[in-house]
Amino acid sequence: MTDQRPASGVLLYRRLLRYAAAYWPVFLVAVVAMAVYSTTDMLIARFMGELVETLKKSTSATTREAAGQFVSVPLYFVLLFLGRGVFGFLSTYGMSWIGRMTIYKLRREMFAHLVALPSRYYDRQTSGQLISKFTFNTEQVAQAVTSAVTTLIRDTLTALILLAYLFYLDVRLTLILLVFGPMIVLLLGYLSRRFRRISQRIQHSMGDVTSILQEAIEGQKVVKIFRGRDKEVAQFEKVNRANRNQNLKLMVTTAASVPLIQLLAAIPVSYIVYLLIQSDSSPGEVIAYMTAMLLILAPLKRLTSVNATLQKGIAAASGIFEVLDEKPEVDTGTLQAPVFSGRVDYQQVGFSYHGGRDPVLQDISFSIQPGQTVAIVGKSGSGKSSLVNLLPRFYDYTSGRILIDGHEITDYTLDSLRDRISIVSQQVTLFNDTIANNIAYGQLGEATRRQIVEAAEAAHVMEFVRGFPQGLDTEVGEGGNRLSGGQRQRVAIARAILKDAPILILDEATSALDAESKQWVHEGIEQLRRNRTTLVIAHQLSTIESADCILVLAQGRIVESGNHRELLQRNGIYANLYHNKFDEAPDPVQDP
Ligand SMILES: Nc1ncnc2c1ncn2[C@@H]1O[C@H](COP(=O)(O)OP(=O)(O)OP(=O)(O)O)[C@@H](O)[C@H]1O
Ligand SMILES: [Mg+2]
Repeated sequence: MTDQRPASGVLLYRRLLRYAAAYWPVFLVAVVAMAVYSTTDMLIARFMGELVETLKKSTSATTREAAGQFVSVPLYFVLLFLGRGVFGFLSTYGMSWIGRMTIYKLRREMFAHLVALPSRYYDRQTSGQLISKFTFNTEQVAQAVTSAVTTLIRDTLTALILLAYLFYLDVRLTLILLVFGPMIVLLLGYLSRRFRRISQRIQHSMGDVTSILQEAIEGQKVVKIFRGRDKEVAQFEKVNRANRNQNLKLMVTTAASVPLIQLLAAIPVSYIVYLLIQSDSSPGEVIAYMTAMLLILAPLKRLTSVNATLQKGIAAASGIFEVLDEKPEVDTGTLQAPVFSGRVDYQQVGFSYHGGRDPVLQDISFSIQPGQTVAIVGKSGSGKSSLVNLLPRFYDYTSGRILIDGHEITDYTLDSLRDRISIVSQQVTLFNDTIANNIAYGQLGEATRRQIVEAAEAAHVMEFVRGFPQGLDTEVGEGGNRLSGGQRQRVAIARAILKDAPILILDEATSALDAESKQWVHEGIEQLRRNRTTLVIAHQLSTIESADCILVLAQGRIVESGNHRELLQRNGIYANLYHNKFDEAPDPVQDP
């Protein structure tokens, strides 16, 4: 969270208004409506003055004349409020419309931007903070654009018109009134800064609330079995309380600011009343002046509380712009990737998650010929996933080069590069949709039903889908949680088969699968590997044995490479891994 300097409030608001600027015709209508609406207050004051004059006269006039006057009074009143109603509606609805359009546009832009942000960004953010920006912050912006602006314009106009009327009635008295203006402005300035500071904290704490909530929902089983209820409740209590406290702080400021400002206004008002009574003005003039003066208090009051809304909106906008200002993935390549033959070269590649510090990969060099399979083995945390994630440019390497078909991968456009790469990752991602739609995800959406079924067939998805009443159209639930782990993997494999890309990345996760599921998954993978350049992070011996080349990774470096036989003969790290770690060591008799 960057600290907001007071000056940037204007800049932020201007940037925000740019989103609303496209709707200026509606704005114009609304402002005209507001202007008309604003004159009605002044008319009320004038009406009161005239009423008093009429009453004074009627005491001396005949009853008939007086009766005539009194018929027009209610009529005038009804007309006044009819106008107020119509123009009030036009201005309120017009401004709300602009507000909703602005939110809609902001959310659309935020989302489109979000999905274009690099993986690095997602590593830094909690999804709760992000979600809160989409839901809470945008609503606050809507408030600032809509009701705050309505009040701001309408009430400013009202106040100005009333002020002009006051000047018209009595210049000297009104000047006295105005002396107190600068004091109010100073107070408002102080309050603005405070409002914005607190609002930023509130928005941040809303993000915390969402984060904890989300983790508790997603991790509900862990919460249950490890008896995390108390811890979660305590954590939630903490952020919920922080949120409440900040909100209360804001309310104190809001609630105190209104009477404070009114008090500042009441002092000159009372003095003026005193002067008025002493002067030789007619009763009508006195009443008109006093009514106008009292009427000006209401818009002033709204103007002071509108500040809070406005500052909330500005603070919320700064959170939103933070997302929008994040740099999207670097996509400077101009080459349209052809259908690769599938030659991959890593040349002295180095990589770190923290911009150069703590290297995760160092001096990685190897080549894969088209159609070959490279198996990557190594201890957990040795950098296997990191290594393969560089190929589709989820992260950009910090040194060295990676080539596909002789061109550095950064030379290709991101889309065309990724179009040629298929992935089945360690953690399967399924969307809250049907199995068929999960297989034909994204660009694959154009696939025919037949192609989907073929892919599902090849990945052994059909085996379990046949048991479902809705077949391939069964909904999988959030994250695919209505499917078993092995079933999810097979859906992911079907998706990769359907993509039919020349380069394949497999991050095997065979844990927790029974022998039969393992077999299904394995067969799906074998199907997938055919005729493709494959990088596989392998745990299963059968996969490793059949690879054309095996890279052994340790602490981010390739420490051994060669095929299965060669590596066993070397009797080094691979041999050791082979004897101890792999899932299916075939010969348990071999003692170290
Ligand atoms: N998004 C990330 N941000 C920062 N560091 C990361 C990130 N992902 C992985 N790391 C670190 O990089 C190192 C290598 O992780 P990597 O995921 O490549 O290991 P791995 O060999 O795939 O392990 P496993 O077999 O357990 O999947 C680890 O020390 C890990 O802490
Ligand atoms: Mg991994």
